[in-house]
Amino acid sequence: MQKITVIGTGYVGLIAGLGFAKWGNEVVCLDVVPEKIEKLQQGICPIYEPGAEVQLTDGLASRRLRFTCDVKEAVEHGDLIFIAVGTPEAPDGSADMKYVHSAVDEIADYMQSYKLVVDKSTVPVGTARALRQRMADRLKALGKDLPFDVASNPEFLREGRAVGDFNNPDRIVLGVASEKAEKMLRELYKVFSRSNKPVVVTTPETAEMIKYASNAFLATKITFINEIANLCEQVGANALEVAAAMGKDGRISPKFLHPGPGYGGSCFPKDTKALADTGVKYNAPLTVVESVIRANERQKELAAQKIVARFPEGGTIALLGLSFKPETDDIRESPAVEIARTLLSDPRFTVRMYDPKAMANAKRALGEPANAVWCSSVQETVRGADAVVIATEWSEFSSLNFETLRTMVRRPILFDLRNVYRKEEMADSGFEYHGTGV
Ligand SMILES: NC(=O)c1ccc[n+]([C@@H]2O[C@H](COP(=O)([O-])OP(=O)(O)OC[C@H]3O[C@@H](n4cnc5c(N)ncnc54)[C@H](O)[C@@H]3O)[C@@H](O)[C@H]2O)c1
Repeated sequence: MQKITVIGTGYVGLIAGLGFAKWGNEVVCLDVVPEKIEKLQQGICPIYEPGAEVQLTDGLASRRLRFTCDVKEAVEHGDLIFIAVGTPEAPDGSADMKYVHSAVDEIADYMQSYKLVVDKSTVPVGTARALRQRMADRLKALGKDLPFDVASNPEFLREGRAVGDFNNPDRIVLGVASEKAEKMLRELYKVFSRSNKPVVVTTPETAEMIKYASNAFLATKITFINEIANLCEQVGANALEVAAAMGKDGRISPKFLHPGPGYGGSCFPKDTKALADTGVKYNAPLTVVESVIRANERQKELAAQKIVARFPEGGTIALLGLSFKPETDDIRESPAVEIARTLLSDPRFTVRMYDPKAMANAKRALGEPANAVWCSSVQETVRGADAVVIATEWSEFSSLNFETLRTMVRRPILFDLRNVYRKEEMADSGFEYHGTGV
């Protein structure tokens, strides 16, 4: 059992804190947003993530899990201090490190004994080294002569499955620069030794690169099949059959080969841009990643254009799904939200919107345009619509009753941007069907 502090209680920090406590450690989670901390202290999860609230209740009951806004208390508690704050995109495309820097400064300000600072945020290569220098300089300025280590432990969890992923990872990557750091981190992740999870121990630089390279590769795979799908639409081929047959090749695998309106979320868009930016800085350009970024922007625009082109006079659009993927309330860089934004910017369109979990976040992001209608069910959304658009593949949208739906819409037209349905099965539905790549 170890004493752990987690700085930042977002999608990564909260799930990590819950996991560490579940594994038997004593955990303090710190955040700068008091409302978040108050909710967490009461056992209310501020984000929607399946399974998180149960773990939160268990963690609080075990008394091994605490939440605080008190930096001093948090820094003094942990022998290991995990940084899980945001690293959003800066205006120039690089990773904005201001939250990571302030977390490290706080650690230096309040530490009174050895600390192992472990970065879990996704950060550019060389960050651990730079943070080590930053902390050393700050400690020196404060007249403190204290030992510390900085390690990198990138996180690979997926939103919507974060609890499962954290407790059952494909691999654990430890970027360490000292034996002590390696020993402490190996001890923490000992919980996985019985299940034989691969633990990759490497330098912090390599660990940081593993995270970016993994995300950029997945973004590339999605973008590749999206462009194949666009071409399929033009030449009369079926991208779903192409992807399925490609996926049978063990070297390719069927995962991440689903044509759609482009990738979104809080990671792929900013991580591809940050990696490309690092490539430019070091004169080792990542031209593949650079074109993936451009192609993905185009993919999102194409999805909106398809709808607009079908309705030159405008119309009422029922938009189903706003989160960037199912099982999350996260709308950051969501293609669905971008499509909504494009349609809402055209006064000839009325956009009726519904998402099972992301309504509050979407309302905040899109504001209150006069042509936006917020709905609370599929039935309410489709009423009087000229087209139904499935923008996010929530399971709720995978068993629509088209017979009933046809009586509710004004015109039976379906844009199934995620290929939830098959073109062939839709032939008798009475709906004009538009999938992606079919
Ligand atoms: N979201 C994911 O699926 C995912 C997966 C893997 C890695 N990551 C990476 O993990 C990092 C965190 O991502 P996220 O999605 O959890 O971010 P998030 O925005 O959901 O959460 C960040 C949290 O940090 C808090 N914070 C900021 N500065 C702080 C400070 N000085 N002290 C205490 N708290 C502070 C914020 O209030 C917020 O609650 C990012 O670098 C991201 O790229 C995210």
